[in-house]
Amino acid sequence: MSSPVYTFVSRDDNSTIYAEVSKMLLATGHWKRLKRDNPRFNLMLGERNRLPFGRLGHEPGLVQLVNYYRGADKLCRKASLVKLIKTSPELSDSSNWFPESYIIYPTNLNTPVAPASNGISHLKSNPKTDEREVFLASYHAKKENGEGSVWIAKSSAGAKGAGILISHDANQLLDYIDNQGQVHVIQKYLEKPLLLEPGHRKFDIRSWVLVDHQYNIYLYREGVLRTSSEPYNSADLQDMTSHLTNHCIQKEHSQNYGRYEEGNEMFFDEFRLYLLNTHNVTMETTILPQIKHVIKSCLSCIEAAISTKHLSYQSFQLFGFDFMVDENFKVWLIEINGAPACAQSVALRLKRSSFTSLSDDM
Ligand SMILES: Nc1ncnc2c1ncn2[C@@H]1O[C@H](COP(=O)(O)OP(=O)(O)O)[C@@H](O)[C@H]1O
Ligand SMILES: [Mg+2]
Repeated sequence: MSSPVYTFVSRDDNSTIYAEVSKMLLATGHWKRLKRDNPRFNLMLGERNRLPFGRLGHEPGLVQLVNYYRGADKLCRKASLVKLIKTSPELSDSSNWFPESYIIYPTNLNTPVAPASNGISHLKSNPKTDEREVFLASYHAKKENGEGSVWIAKSSAGAKGAGILISHDANQLLDYIDNQGQVHVIQKYLEKPLLLEPGHRKFDIRSWVLVDHQYNIYLYREGVLRTSSEPYNSADLQDMTSHLTNHCIQKEHSQNYGRYEEGNEMFFDEFRLYLLNTHNVTMETTILPQIKHVIKSCLSCIEAAISTKHLSYQSFQLFGFDFMVDENFKVWLIEINGAPACAQSVALRLKRSSFTSLSDDM
């Protein structure tokens, strides 16, 4: 075997994905792993919150690549995503695919409050704006018009279904946030999700997306539904297993975990058949075009801000886009993860990669 030509460092010991990627690189025979602090690498498999972006691309004679984009948090923090969506003209169709949302700061942070009536001009001009007045105006209008009164509060940096409150009561939602230390998002709750039978159960969809160093966008052909194993119950908003489809919530709290799908996961092939047989709906014409549109819109919107095409180093990144589907087969973006975990059974296939390019797909 010829000697390795490329070098890499791996600095994230907790990532199962990049542990596997390291093994695969070594197995090719073309890559050599360096000690974690050696600066003479071609590829850094870095630790998400500790990336030395400023120091990348300054090694004479070396092309350097890193597995995260600087600034991708604009999509991956819940409050930043809301701000981006509201203030980007390119995303002006977002009311079709992103539930109405407001950024709320706990009152003790003394963040300027936007008046109910001035739309997004406050958000545009101030980096931090508390939208509680705008939220309350919409809350009352919706309630009066019979457009639903259930909303969900989630911590901007939250994950795994922690720190979430679902409620009919606007004051309860605001009090809840006021008792927390950090910025939250209040979002319209999708009250009529498509439910899986048997069991009358809620689900969300995880799609894996790769953005390469040239900012080409690829959607992995496999995706997974994370299912609830308890019946959806709109009369009991406290019952987390009925409303939150996060894997850890289901695993820890549902008596029926694994009863309907192994590990509460259903993969696309099975969902494809389910949609066809139960609703006469095809995944390819109904669900996937909506998913692709959202992914492409969100990533294109921040391309100019985060692309590394003209920098001295290049980035690539794997994202997890999470969606819900409502009873009219409309797809809604729920959140975007910048360091997605990966269902065990697709992990290997994902790493060996079979992504569909979105760049020339639509
Ligand atoms: N607007 C919404 N309407 C209905 N259900 C929602 C909504 N937002 C979130 N959920 C449910 O709550 C879960 C957790 O919300 P999410 O925004 O993904 O936060 P986390 O970062 O904690 O996973 C989702 O997987 C979904 O089941
Ligand atoms: Mg989530």
